[in-house]
Amino acid sequence: MNRRPRRNRQTEAIRNMVQETSLSTHDFIYPLFLIEGQNQRIEVASMPGINRFSVDTVLDEVAACVELGVKAFAPFPAVPEQYKDKFATESYNPEGLFPSAIREIKKNFPDVALITDIAMDPYSSDGHDGIVENGEILNDATLEVLGKMALVQAQAGADIVAPSDMMDGRVGHIRRVLDEHGFTKVGIMAYTAKYASAFYGPFRDALDSAPKAGDKKTYQMNYANSREALIEAELDTAEGADYLMVKPALSYLDVIKLLRDNSNLPIAAYNVSGEYAMVKAAAQKGWIDGEKIMVETLTSIKRAGADIILSYFAKEFAQYLKK
Ligand code: PBG
Repeated sequence: MNRRPRRNRQTEAIRNMVQETSLSTHDFIYPLFLIEGQNQRIEVASMPGINRFSVDTVLDEVAACVELGVKAFAPFPAVPEQYKDKFATESYNPEGLFPSAIREIKKNFPDVALITDIAMDPYSSDGHDGIVENGEILNDATLEVLGKMALVQAQAGADIVAPSDMMDGRVGHIRRVLDEHGFTKVGIMAYTAKYASAFYGPFRDALDSAPKAGDKKTYQMNYANSREALIEAELDTAEGADYLMVKPALSYLDVIKLLRDNSNLPIAAYNVSGEYAMVKAAAQKGWIDGEKIMVETLTSIKRAGADIILSYFAKEFAQYLKK
């Protein structure tokens, strides 16, 4: 035999030398759940190890992550029911929980990157990402709300805004609003290929943001489609997106690869709540080795072509690297 691929797998030193993909703490964005109040740190039942923090305690969490080398965060607010309405007006209240948290984090940690979510669902009494009228999710009317939300977040100190709503034309609209107000340096990470997925279940528990009626299939993508992701990528790019995202990650590695091969923008992938919960649940039962599965799955996302990984594992992975 001339060719023996096993020669390159013989020892750990050789394997490390020929390893094609490696992960660093710089690859990660760590999602953070925010709640009102003080001194709160409440674990999400379906996401062991992941907490909902009040603004004071989230600062300790950010400090711990920065210490471990994780310096990019994606905060999400859990908004009390009494502040929700059909038009998500709380989403652009500059004194609301979310802008206040952004200001507070930036004041204490000016060097971290804050990637802030733009979508109506946490603030909407309908639990949808857009304005609902007779069961329909209105596209263009929703853009107005998203623009106001983006502006308030930029004023609070967001580095990058991340529209996760899947309305048509939202990247272009948000870019215009930001530029008109002088926020030309605030980036846009577009949730480009965001699928209508059952993997978001634990996230909706964490924020109490599930749709009150219907589903999200008229705006989020059909998981049977991949060419359609290229249409979304083309539009987001033309409208001014600085990053393209695929979400979820693990059942969509082919889509990550497709965008990687067709774009020169940085590609992000969101390793979502259900993907995290499945690993944690099986590990708690002793059915899998949770740490090994964490490293293997995160590596697969990077190998598929993601430059950036949003993951609830970000902190645990950084702790693992430290060991
Ligand atoms: C809301 C939003 C969702 C997630 C991020 N932003 C849920 C949804 O679209 O219903 C899901 C993240 C996760 O599951 O970890 N626009």
